Amino acid sequence: ETGMFTYDPGFTSTASCDSAITYIDGDEGLLMHRGYRIEDLAEKSDFMEVCYLLLHGELPNQQEKDKFVHNITYHTMLHEQMNYFFRGFRRDSHPMAVMVGVVGALSAFYHDSTDITDPHQRLIASHRLIAKMPTIAAMAYKYSVGQPFVYPRNDLDYASNFLHMTFSVPAEEYKINPVLSRAMDRIFILHADHEQNASTSTVRLAGSSGANPFACIAAGISSLWGPAHGGANEAVLRMLEEIGHKDRIPEFIERAKDKDDPFRLMGFGHRVYKNYDPRAKVMQKSCHEVLDELGLRNEPLLELAMELERIALEDDYFNEKKLFPNVDFYSGIVLKALGFPTSMFTALFALARTVGWIAQWNEMIEDPGQRIGRPRQLYNGSTLRDYPPIEQR
Ligand code: SDX
Repeated sequence: ETGMFTYDPGFTSTASCDSAITYIDGDEGLLMHRGYRIEDLAEKSDFMEVCYLLLHGELPNQQEKDKFVHNITYHTMLHEQMNYFFRGFRRDSHPMAVMVGVVGALSAFYHDSTDITDPHQRLIASHRLIAKMPTIAAMAYKYSVGQPFVYPRNDLDYASNFLHMTFSVPAEEYKINPVLSRAMDRIFILHADHEQNASTSTVRLAGSSGANPFACIAAGISSLWGPAHGGANEAVLRMLEEIGHKDRIPEFIERAKDKDDPFRLMGFGHRVYKNYDPRAKVMQKSCHEVLDELGLRNEPLLELAMELERIALEDDYFNEKKLFPNVDFYSGIVLKALGFPTSMFTALFALARTVGWIAQWNEMIEDPGQRIGRPRQLYNGSTLRDYPPIEQR
């Protein structure tokens, strides 16, 4: 007999927090980082500037930017011994599984940046994570396709360096295309931070216990992996490939509306946005730019996605529930065009989101009032009862 009684916690959840980093107005479809609209940052800034802004609260001047870029550039290499970590995985391991393992293991190598009470160590850990994520993601990809690891180059910008490490082979350097590098950089900006989403809240909760930053980011990567969160970009591509042709769109729209059908329109809907995700608009524009540059103007997946959006936004169900495309709806199409397999899409999201996680982690650690996170519950289990001997059960 389960007696039902509710527990009045009489407290505000410790999972909520104050933050000055990112603001979202879900009804307006507004997203800003430290007061700057995402549209302005995506158009006029670059990922290194946005990293500096998220970490330090202000856009850097030229001297500050040069120093920051130098610090990141000179942390891009991974300890050579970490190569053995990759070799322990099966070749067909999902890149996110590799990333979780390798990032968590960084604390086994970089002991000089794990003391969270030391601001200098926190800054070094922040730089190391931002700098090494592209190297780790590229190595995960190389390992999965059986190609040798490619080292970072200090003469390349952040996005170009990542494309180089991913697509160069000993026999032939990847040919840097400024249009494609700019698109990659913009994709990183669009994914950099997003307030207290599931993975950022995971990083904050893990960090509130005093865990080292590498372990906290590994926790964030694990949370982001889920298809309801960062795994959605991979799921969108698989959904579009399953739909296959615009004539089948109505069938899938009906399935998305059917409560008995677990199918959801991937890349649509959001916990906070009840309007168009501003990142999705910028992402769609990037799609067109990249496909034009690659001479793939009539990419069928993009046309299918745009038709799916058009039909969904005309449907009462999606209008009543305020379901709009989110950041993941178009990102997979541009990532596929850039040459990435779908298995790498969420790893790229994690690469870009690392700066947001680490900025939010620093903000929490620097808060003098910070305490360990301890969300409570509304208990709805059995009321108090005596223990029965086994013969009476
Ligand atoms: C990200 O939090 C963040 O900021 C995350 C993120 C970030 O940058 O960190 O923005 C990144 O994770 C974007 C979201 C990526 N996920 C997907 O695209 C997966 C598909 N989307 C759904 O799973 C869903 O929209 C969620 C998980 C994103 C949100 O789910 P909720 O909390 O149920 O959304 P809701 O409360 O607004 O839903 C309202 C209704 C519900 O039905 P009812 O219970 O009212 O009957 O709409 C339904 C939902 O079931 N619904 C959908 C739907 N999304 C919500 N129905 C069909 N297709 C969908 N995509």
